[in-house]
Formats: sequence, C-alpha cells, structure tokens
Amino acid sequence: MPIPDRPTFATADPRWQCRITDDGSPTLVQTATDDSMHSGCGALAETRHVYLRGSGAESRLAAGQSTRVLELGFGTGLGWMVTAQAAIAHQTPLYYLALESALPPAAVIRQLDWHRFIDNRALVDATIQWFADVEAACESQTAIPTLVFGNLILEVSLGDAADWCCGPLHHPYKNPDQRFDAIYFDPFSPESSPRLWQSDIFAAIHAVTKPDGRLASYCVNRQVRDAMKAAGWNVGKTAGPPGGKREVLVARYE
Ligand SMILES: C[S@@+](CC[C@H](N)C(=O)[O-])C[C@H]1O[C@@H](n2cnc3c(N)ncnc32)[C@H](O)[C@@H]1O
Repeated sequence: MPIPDRPTFATADPRWQCRITDDGSPTLVQTATDDSMHSGCGALAETRHVYLRGSGAESRLAAGQSTRVLELGFGTGLGWMVTAQAAIAHQTPLYYLALESALPPAAVIRQLDWHRFIDNRALVDATIQWFADVEAACESQTAIPTLVFGNLILEVSLGDAADWCCGPLHHPYKNPDQRFDAIYFDPFSPESSPRLWQSDIFAAIHAVTKPDGRLASYCVNRQVRDAMKAAGWNVGKTAGPPGGKREVLVARYE
C-alpha cells in the first residue's frame, strides 16, 4: 500500500517538523534525517497500544498497582502523558524514568497542542512547563528538575541511553524495589540508533526489570529479537495497533 502524503509543518525549531499522523494526532520528525517520533499510522494509537498496553502498565494501573516505567526515548513526552493519564484515572502511584539524548524545545512541544488529545489540561500544562524547566536547567547548568504531579513522578536522565545502561547511573535500579515493571523501548530504529539495539543494552535493561516485568517495542526485526533472547528475555510478538503495524514486540523477564 502506498504511504499516504501526511501533512507536515515547520515548527519553532528548524531541526523539527510536525507531522499529522493517521489518527489525527501529531508527531515530530527530525528534519535532517526524517526520523519520526511515532508511527505515521497514529502517534496516539501506537503509544496506547504498543507501550501502555503491551508493557502491562495499563492493566497494572487499572488494578491499582503502583507502577514503575522506564522509557528509552522520551521524545515528545506522549508516552509519559498517556501513562500518567491512566495512573490518574485509577488513582495509582506512578514512577516514570525516561532516558533521552535530545529533548525537543518546550516551544516545539507547545505547538503539538497535546490538549486536544490528552484530556487533562493540568497534566499537559505541567509537562510543557517541565520541558521549559529542563531547558532552563541545561542552559544554567543546574540540576535537572523532577516533575511531581500528585502521586506521579517523572524523572529524565539526559544523555546517551547506552551510557546510562553501561555506567554507574543504572546501578541503584538493580535493587529489587527500584526495578521497573514496564519498559517502553522506543529509541529511533536500529538503522538510526544501532548502538541501543544490542544484546548488552538488553541485558542491562533486563537487570533493572522486575521478575514479572515486560518490555514493549514497535520493532520486531529478527536481529533485534535474537539480541533480546541472548540477553535473557522471553520474546514474543503481538498484534499491532489498529491501522498500524501488523505485529509489535512484547518481551517478558525470564
Ligand atoms: C521514537 S522517538 C520516542 C518517542 C517518544 N516515546 C514519545 O512518546 O514521544 C525516539 C527518541 O529516542 C531518542 N534517542 C535516540 N537515540 C538515543 C540514545 N542513544 N539515547 C537516548 N535517547 C535516544 C531520540 O532523541 C528520540 O527522542
């Protein structure tokens, strides 16, 4: 099937363009590489289906189980907002740690108009303000702020996720009570970010996952599945989102 010609607009920063995906929700595309933050078939649909549902976070939050999420690739913050919304709906505590090498500017995030898709104005406003606060902290070289929103906590570790996985920052999260229930493995593709799709990275992520935890990803590439298996994951495929990829990946701690 031919790829639809999706409306694409300039943003406040020439490094990013805004593209409207097939479910009407926007995503960001890197101008230089054409790497897209989400599937063109639907940014919101992909986030809900592949990550929130596929990782098991949705059912945990619905059952009132306090949940810890690790996301590789924070991008626009959509994964966080969708997960936070589910946590708020069920009054369940959420801890969310994101690894990100190039956080888009707050001015660009503001242009995505997430209010139209996330039915919690205060959450969207707090998230956009947090993008601005992180930007200011980077400029002034002060500590990166944590976003506390009721009983939800968002932290970001800025830099290459491979460094986080292979260095001391990752060590505290090996403690049983610091490990994660759900992993959103969402960097750019293996072609664009090859270092992150390697077995040692999947082993490092495995070491910080709880024994009943799950990893979700859009990529079902054979080499990626083999690298995950070699790192101890029990790797499977599940149906993709409506209108999107036929299959997506769910890996369980083994
Ligand atoms: C597919 S987008 C993530 C979209 C995001 N989950 C969302 O909901 O908007 C991929 C993200 O991974 C980040 N990324 C790519 N390589 C990375 C690396 N080596 N370390 C950390 N982040 C990386 C990119 O900057 C980009 O923001």
